[in-house]
Amino acid sequence: MPKAKPQEQLREEFNRWAEAGKGESMEHEHWPITKPTLELMQIARSDMILDVGCGGGWLSRILSQRVPQGHVIGMDISDEMIERARQASPKFQNLEFVTGAVDEIPCDPDSFSKVISVESSYYWPDPAKGIREIRRVLQDGGSAWILINYYRDNPYCHQWGEKLAVPTHLLSADEWTAMFREAGFMKAAHRRIVDPTPAPEIYTGRWFRDAKQLAEFRATGALLVYATK
Ligand SMILES: C[S@@+](CC[C@H](N)C(=O)[O-])C[C@H]1O[C@@H](n2cnc3c(N)ncnc32)[C@H](O)[C@@H]1O
Repeated sequence: MPKAKPQEQLREEFNRWAEAGKGESMEHEHWPITKPTLELMQIARSDMILDVGCGGGWLSRILSQRVPQGHVIGMDISDEMIERARQASPKFQNLEFVTGAVDEIPCDPDSFSKVISVESSYYWPDPAKGIREIRRVLQDGGSAWILINYYRDNPYCHQWGEKLAVPTHLLSADEWTAMFREAGFMKAAHRRIVDPTPAPEIYTGRWFRDAKQLAEFRATGALLVYATK
């Protein structure tokens, strides 16, 4: 049987995650690194924000409340994630969810003042193309904010690659930042966002060897890459 195309593979895999309830449970895992990122973004009440790889839409909902005079679009390649995000957000007037892939964002040029993406970019089949697309939909002076937990400079996450059912990119902070510069972004930079959540005494999940490795992973922190158009 011919292999599924990368986008179809991603759609199928993340539809499975959605059906398993991960769209909702990832809020708990990703909020400790996302909260300080929102502070750095200096969100204005009228910002127009795109949330790339929005999953179950929890962050898009938080953002929509912070931009009462603006608008938020949550986009994801998984139609099942988008369906659940819509169902969970009936009362949000300035929020919409669309199915779409980052390398062909279904939005006009210059549509957004900010773009955020949390724990999605290492799955993108062609990250450089995704970053160019993000630049296309940003307004001049707009900014992009990409949070990445799986990156080369954090040795405590490298085992994830073989556990994930879809291909991933294990890139360094410098490689991610260079892609923003090569796409034409200005002031591309990166920093670490430490996760202060204490590790449990005993770890029973499948992503880390033990509680010590999880603690080291969190202390090393997520990579935040940010840049201005
Ligand atoms: C680990 S989940 C994170 C979801 C959400 N940002 C969160 O923090 O809960 C990664 C998400 O990225 C989406 N994704 C992966 N590749 C994508 C692509 N090429 N274009 C758009 N979304 C993508 C997946 O469908 C999935 O919902």
